[in-house]
Amino acid sequence: MTLDGKITTRSFSPVDFTSREDKKHLLRQRSLGDAVLIGRSTLTHDNVRLGLPDPKMRAEREARGQTPWPLRVIVSNEGRIDPALNIFQTDFSKIVIFSTTRMPRKYQVALREKATLRLSVSEHVDLTRMLQQLQSEYGVRRVACEGGAELFRGLLELQLIDQLNLTIAPYIFGGKGAPTLTGSGTRFLPASVRCSLEEMVVRGEECFVTYRLRYR
Ligand SMILES: NC(=O)c1ccc[n+]([C@@H]2O[C@H](COP(=O)([O-])OP(=O)(O)OC[C@H]3O[C@@H](n4cnc5c(N)ncnc54)[C@H](OP(=O)(O)O)[C@@H]3O)[C@@H](O)[C@H]2O)c1
Repeated sequence: MTLDGKITTRSFSPVDFTSREDKKHLLRQRSLGDAVLIGRSTLTHDNVRLGLPDPKMRAEREARGQTPWPLRVIVSNEGRIDPALNIFQTDFSKIVIFSTTRMPRKYQVALREKATLRLSVSEHVDLTRMLQQLQSEYGVRRVACEGGAELFRGLLELQLIDQLNLTIAPYIFGGKGAPTLTGSGTRFLPASVRCSLEEMVVRGEECFVTYRLRYR
């Protein structure tokens, strides 16, 4: 995020304001997860594959008893996920989509060829249940969530995040159109979340911080 807490621009462009070191840092965090989790909007805007290009990271995963690539998990209430996105053109690891029966039939048909659909008969995805299912049915113990803001906020409100890795980049965007870490809405969180600093590393002009979240 920028010094004023923005995670993207007001046009939701993919993040290009952090260093190569930060991109590597992201991949390292991703490589630790049994699953990597992403919201539909970030997937659409960034068009990421959620892979691990570095063979060393994949070898380290295997040495830890993990699959070479993390399970890829997409969350969407409406389910209008474009099957032409880059992620669906790769099959290095399984893709699971947690959505609802609001997903239009034509999307269901197209996406079933590329991913496992977990559709609940409700308006919204139940994130707590999703994590339970990931654990019990896919053996997932650690999830690396890559955002975006709306998904992060949803998890935070349910007290489902235990660690926050943040890179503070040397920019100030200003304005209120660009979302912050928890989005661009005006609603407060149900309660403020106390975070304890676990690690802080400065590389170049960026600051890499790791916080542990403590819910009261
Ligand atoms: N700086 C960074 O490190 C960073 C990291 C991640 C993202 N970003 C940026 O953030 C922007 C996207 O932010 P965003 O807040 O719009 O993204 P988001 O959380 O990725 O996506 C929001 C969408 O994801 C689905 N979703 C989110 N929470 C859900 C929940 N609890 N249950 C079910 N579905 C849920 C919904 O999809 P449906 O609409 O399909 O129902 C929702 O509209 C992008 O520009 C991206 O580049 C920046």
